[in-house]
Amino acid sequence: MPPTIVIFGASGDLTSRKLIPALFQLERKERLPAGTQIVGVSRTEFSHEEFRNKLTESTKKFAGDRYDEETWQNFVSRIYYHPGDIMKSEDYTSLAKFLEEIETEPGSARLYYLSTAPRFYEPAVAELGKAGMATEEHGERRIVIEKPFGTDLETAKKLNAEVLKVFDEDQVYRIDHYLGKETVLNLLVLRFGNSIFEPIWNRQYVDHVQITVAEEVSVGRRGGYYDTSGVLRDMFQNHLLQLMTIMAMECPSEYSAKPVRDEKVKVLQSVRALTEPEEVRANTVRGQYQGYLDEEGVPNDSQTATFAALKLGIENWRWQGVPFYLRSGKAMSCRTTQIVVQFRQPPLLLFSGMKKPVCDANRLVIQIQPAEGIQLQFNTKVPDAGMRLKMTNFDFRFEREYRGVMPEAYERLLLDALRGDASLFARRDEVELAWSIVDPIMSAWESFDEAPPKYEVGYWGPDQSNEWMRKQGCDWFDVCPVLH
Ligand code: BG6
Repeated sequence: MPPTIVIFGASGDLTSRKLIPALFQLERKERLPAGTQIVGVSRTEFSHEEFRNKLTESTKKFAGDRYDEETWQNFVSRIYYHPGDIMKSEDYTSLAKFLEEIETEPGSARLYYLSTAPRFYEPAVAELGKAGMATEEHGERRIVIEKPFGTDLETAKKLNAEVLKVFDEDQVYRIDHYLGKETVLNLLVLRFGNSIFEPIWNRQYVDHVQITVAEEVSVGRRGGYYDTSGVLRDMFQNHLLQLMTIMAMECPSEYSAKPVRDEKVKVLQSVRALTEPEEVRANTVRGQYQGYLDEEGVPNDSQTATFAALKLGIENWRWQGVPFYLRSGKAMSCRTTQIVVQFRQPPLLLFSGMKKPVCDANRLVIQIQPAEGIQLQFNTKVPDAGMRLKMTNFDFRFEREYRGVMPEAYERLLLDALRGDASLFARRDEVELAWSIVDPIMSAWESFDEAPPKYEVGYWGPDQSNEWMRKQGCDWFDVCPVLH
């Protein structure tokens, strides 16, 4: 039975840039269930034809050389458009009728995708419930909810409560696109598909872990949204904490939604929350790039942080005493997401060249994007130079090892949602725990009198960030990736 994907907010950017191109690639790879239909819903009045034409243009642009006319024509003929106001009950009744008309086989599954402005999540879910569109009498019903899932712990709890009045937890897919990135999935394989890393993946061997998600772009035209969000809500509550949980979790009993998410939740439960303002002051750095206040939609006295660095501790047997440094910002030196596992120095520094700070000890550098690979750094002897040592690399790159283009995160995630595999989606408790880590930091920052320090566009954040790190006996791994 071919499923139907119903995208709410279909005239928005996400649909044309990510969702449709991803679904199209799945179609090209013959992974999309045969006959899958897609229905776009939003307020704009498009005919089916107009909507299809608009998507043809955008997909040609975003799919690049992964576009082919024959597959597209076949695919686009199964895309429909149904105009509707997300706030109006009658529009759900007419949508339900339209879906019944096109779903010719009984028992067709439906995947609702909320790609609207977040303030519409609650009403949309409630209306789907009222219209009887969430019940599974006539086929499976699932709902994908985009980030941000709430704006703090309280709103996230409320949204969860409202969603769970209508859908069961196992029908709900809270999406975080970082979890669909191949290089992020490879972290699970690195850790749990190999035996050589596990024995050293703990406090006995690891000095600290750095997780950096640096963006070169500024907030651009998203100033209005961004200013109400800031870097903690926009990047940490979701993407950075997700990366941290995958780095820190125990091996699940099997690779399926419950055990995987149980282990991730345990990590979040073990994070020592920074509750007191003084703790926040000591363990965080914030910053705002110069020129942020001139961005469209940003008030000229805004204190919103566009950069943050946090030091988090995970209080469990594996990680007690090992700081996890998380850092992200806009308008930084380059675009790079990388995770550095900094190992300890050997217990005896036998060679004189080794009497250096810990940052010169072994390192595992995991490059998530745009470089995609892993380097293990280790000392070798420089030939013909006494006992001089040099850090050298074992170097793995996806590009060199595997041919073909890396798939977009949304391909994997959409397919998993269609198949009913929620392993890579956030569960209710996971989302709420993540907010409970970020919330007190945001409140403390708001209570501080001073504005966040400025940093120059194109830098690795404010100077305070480097000083703070140095005081802890280390340096940030500030390396822009070499792509080829
Ligand atoms: C989004 C944030 O969730 O992630 C954006 O809202 C950010 O501000 C984006 O730019 C980064 O995603 P990626 O995949 O480009 O690293």
